[in-house]
Amino acid sequence: MMENSDLEMWSSKEKWWGDNCLGRVDGFWLLPQFIQSIDRVVKHFKPLPSDIILASFPKTGTTWLKSLLYSIINRSSKHRLATKNPHELIPILEVQVYATSNEPLMLTPSSSSINRSRRLFSTHIPYQLLAKTLDSSECRVVYVTRNPKDTLISTWHFVNKWIKAKEGSWPLEVATDKFCRGVIPCGPYYDHVMGYKKLSLEKPNNLFFITYEELMDDPKTHVKKLAEFLGCPFIGEDREEQVEEVVKSCSFEVLRNHEVNKSGESPTWFPLPYNSFFRKGAVGDHKNYLTDETIDRIDTLTREKFHSSGFMY
Ligand code: A3P
Repeated sequence: MMENSDLEMWSSKEKWWGDNCLGRVDGFWLLPQFIQSIDRVVKHFKPLPSDIILASFPKTGTTWLKSLLYSIINRSSKHRLATKNPHELIPILEVQVYATSNEPLMLTPSSSSINRSRRLFSTHIPYQLLAKTLDSSECRVVYVTRNPKDTLISTWHFVNKWIKAKEGSWPLEVATDKFCRGVIPCGPYYDHVMGYKKLSLEKPNNLFFITYEELMDDPKTHVKKLAEFLGCPFIGEDREEQVEEVVKSCSFEVLRNHEVNKSGESPTWFPLPYNSFFRKGAVGDHKNYLTDETIDRIDTLTREKFHSSGFMY
């Protein structure tokens, strides 16, 4: 990894939207403001065997998984989810924990945590950059991914919200082209997914790989599996009710309607408001936006990138 974020040190740079560029570092496109902090995570983060790390490509269901993981680890956490945005409950390593210094912030388990021995973090850093860190520990990693076409549409909406006040809308054709060429923060999407998928095949006891669609299809079964993977299965006669409670309190409708998640206020660590993490929360929304031709283009790419490894989308 590079020592600083000098443009000259990037192997290349390209405009993403407006005047915002991404820098290419070790094959991945990164937002310049996070290059140094990603470097700090790679060099200084030492996961404990009891740590839980949620890894994801942006816009694939991170917020949802954060609420689920937090609820699975801290049972009876309904009230915490009602007053805190999930991103405030599970910090992002490269954005909140190593934002300013090699000395991590927030490395003690949350004082509200019932299960005080487990630390929960999230990251968008590709496995290819974080391999040494993750391979050095028996920590548990949960990776969520999502249909590339829905990921593209979710990203496109997110960016349009980001630039609305300043520059008007970002054409979908431009967003699609950038997505297909991998020019998107933490992209290429396909390489990001494949990095973690490979790890899940090699170390299934350490990496739990799940898709947004699987979770949407049968949340209760997957929440139970997640809890087992994390070593804290639901037990007791009322276990079905406990699972139902977790699923319900983390559902899109319930979470979105908490005042904190409706808020137009932005966190200190990000320019977009809390409400921007909740848009539609549906599977297949791309059908409302993409032409048949674009769908064909992305499907062809997906077959090329994923299907040889047996992973389907
Ligand atoms: P859409 O833009 O398709 O609605 P991330 O959290 O990785 O940024 O992903 C954001 C996407 O997850 C958005 O998708 C958002 O609406 C959706 N989302 C947020 N919370 C959710 C929840 N509890 N259940 C399902 N989807 C959720």
